[in-house]
Amino acid sequence: MKNVTYGDTEKQVLMRHQFINHDEPVIEREGVNVDDFYTDEVVKRCSEHSVMLDIGTGTGHIPLQISRKGPAGIYIVAMDVSKASVKIAKKNTRKKKNIEILRGDGYNLPFKDNSFESAICRLAPHSIKEMYRVLKSKGCYVLYDTDTPVVGRNSKKCSATE
Ligand SMILES: C[S@@+](CC[C@H](N)C(=O)[O-])C[C@H]1O[C@@H](n2cnc3c(N)ncnc32)[C@H](O)[C@@H]1O
Repeated sequence: MKNVTYGDTEKQVLMRHQFINHDEPVIEREGVNVDDFYTDEVVKRCSEHSVMLDIGTGTGHIPLQISRKGPAGIYIVAMDVSKASVKIAKKNTRKKKNIEILRGDGYNLPFKDNSFESAICRLAPHSIKEMYRVLKSKGCYVLYDTDTPVVGRNSKKCSATE
């Protein structure tokens, strides 16, 4: 990876970790647990023994939830551009054999074409073009960029949404 220095600072990561694990473990919108809703939508769409990419994983709590709820044999590659995020995500997921944490830029994904059955990204900078490139044909993605998750399937034409 080139000398990329952006992404969350150590202070931001520690604040996020504290917020998620202690201050506000459940965020609700109109009575709906936002994390549960998001991860349920993801899990519904991923198949057994598949490999998923999480772009801009932060503290790694979303891969942890998916690993708990997800289908058997799911393997999650979670990446973040911030060194501090990678450090804490590795610590948080250290007991999970099916979660791998890497440092990488969402605009220049360090993976070969057609590597993943699914990809997710919540509130993190990324390139849709890059996501399409690394997704297998018919691979599924779930994006959560605002308040509403967006779901699609890779037709390799960058046009299809469910
Ligand atoms: C708002 S947090 C979201 C974390 C996580 N996806 C979640 O839902 O809790 C945004 C994350 O994106 C990461 N980030 C910022 N720029 C990035 C980039 N170019 N590529 C990958 N991750 C990036 C930050 O370091 C931070 O961890």
